[in-house]
Amino acid sequence: MNVTVFGTGYVGLVTGACLADVGHNVMCIDIDEAKIEGLKQGRIPIYEPGLEPMVLRNHEEGRLHFTTDAAEGVKFGALQFIAVGTPPDEDGSADLQYVLAVARTIGEHMDDYKVIIDKSTVPVGTADKVRTVVAGVLAERGTDLPFDVCSNPEFLKEGAAIEDFTKSARIVVGTDSERVRELMRECYAPYSRNHDKLMFMDVRAAELTKYAANAMLATKISFMNEIANLAERLGADVEQVRLGIGSDPRIGYHFIYPGCGYGGSCFPKDVQALARTAVQVGYEPELLNAVEAVNNRQKQVLFDKLSQAFDGDLTGRTIAVWGLSFKPNTDDMRAAPSRVLMESLWDAGARVRAFDPEAMHETIRIYGERDGLTLVEHPNEAVEGADALVVCTEWKQFRTVDFTWLKSKLKHPVLVDGRNMYDPRQVKAAGLMYYAIGRADSLKPVM
Ligand code: UDX
Repeated sequence: MNVTVFGTGYVGLVTGACLADVGHNVMCIDIDEAKIEGLKQGRIPIYEPGLEPMVLRNHEEGRLHFTTDAAEGVKFGALQFIAVGTPPDEDGSADLQYVLAVARTIGEHMDDYKVIIDKSTVPVGTADKVRTVVAGVLAERGTDLPFDVCSNPEFLKEGAAIEDFTKSARIVVGTDSERVRELMRECYAPYSRNHDKLMFMDVRAAELTKYAANAMLATKISFMNEIANLAERLGADVEQVRLGIGSDPRIGYHFIYPGCGYGGSCFPKDVQALARTAVQVGYEPELLNAVEAVNNRQKQVLFDKLSQAFDGDLTGRTIAVWGLSFKPNTDDMRAAPSRVLMESLWDAGARVRAFDPEAMHETIRIYGERDGLTLVEHPNEAVEGADALVVCTEWKQFRTVDFTWLKSKLKHPVLVDGRNMYDPRQVKAAGLMYYAIGRADSLKPVM
């Protein structure tokens, strides 16, 4: 099949590469000329495991093409995926200007039947808006070419996007057209071979499914963070509680890891956008608001714990930070807890010595060369001469630590662990104070 994908960000590039990889002919189109030029020369603008070889291979073998030419892009595919950004606007609603601009472009250049597919996360009702825009442009052109609009939300995790695309649990398609069902079946057949993963539903149900999935997962995390905060105050270890509740199949072990708050490009944005949508239709989303409020507070706990360890005065302290990305295996710093921590530390007159395996260039892009921020090439170097260590992201390479060595390097024996990575007994046995999340006993001496 010939497929066009608008947008070469995470979602667009992964979709384009994965569809090309199973034999479709894919044209990726973006308005950013430098990005498209780079892609033509094999430069991948984002870090995503497995993506680079997949893009290079399919490009070389002639199944994956890149262009900035709208007319060429629209003419190419019977399927037109819209995978451009939907950034939050000032009030947290999803900004649809890029999605609707693509709809206009498709209307301007199409000359036969098209299926227009909303892949970006868009508020319920967007497919109708896309349909109205395309129909309006066609009317201006004096034609009534046939087209359909459907919703096909993605459920890709950063760092595992290729795997999530190729081995997805389900492929949700919202449509009321049999023709679309057939074409989407054909498009996804290579990824739906062993069992039928396609789930057809109404357009609005598909649009809401995406938000509901992310909001549910975010709710689990905020719930668990609240239990962790309670556990700390009640003298319980939340890690034992996590296992205790996760063993109930009705609850499950996934997404109940307490931590320093969820970040990334999806959860914060989608929870907010769904809450905004709720208000727009006259419903007060009390739970969604609480999920967000708990998360915002949770991003402060690392700073609060440090502050507690240094009796409320962090002036002149140097804090080592391990991990800056919002989660491992990505360089993405969007809504990362590390940012809240570093900004609070700077406000309090402290300095940061940080290491991250992938996100240091992104940190420089965001903060520039600034006072109070030193980026180092090795985790051990971050600790040299620091007053305390904070772990913000659970990268694999931070799992094994020689705590005796760590104690000898830190000016003060303070380890703040935002991801509950370590065994409190081992940390304390080395003479370190261990401030973890929801582990009340982590500061008590070893028995
Ligand atoms: C998420 C969804 O998982 C994905 O389906 C959707 O398409 C986009 O949003 P992503 O943002 O890439 O994906 O990351 P994910 O691995 O889900 O983690 C999100 C955040 O939640 C991270 O900050 C992570 O640290 C945090 N998290 C996750 C927890 O704090 N505890 C958990 O138990 C799980």
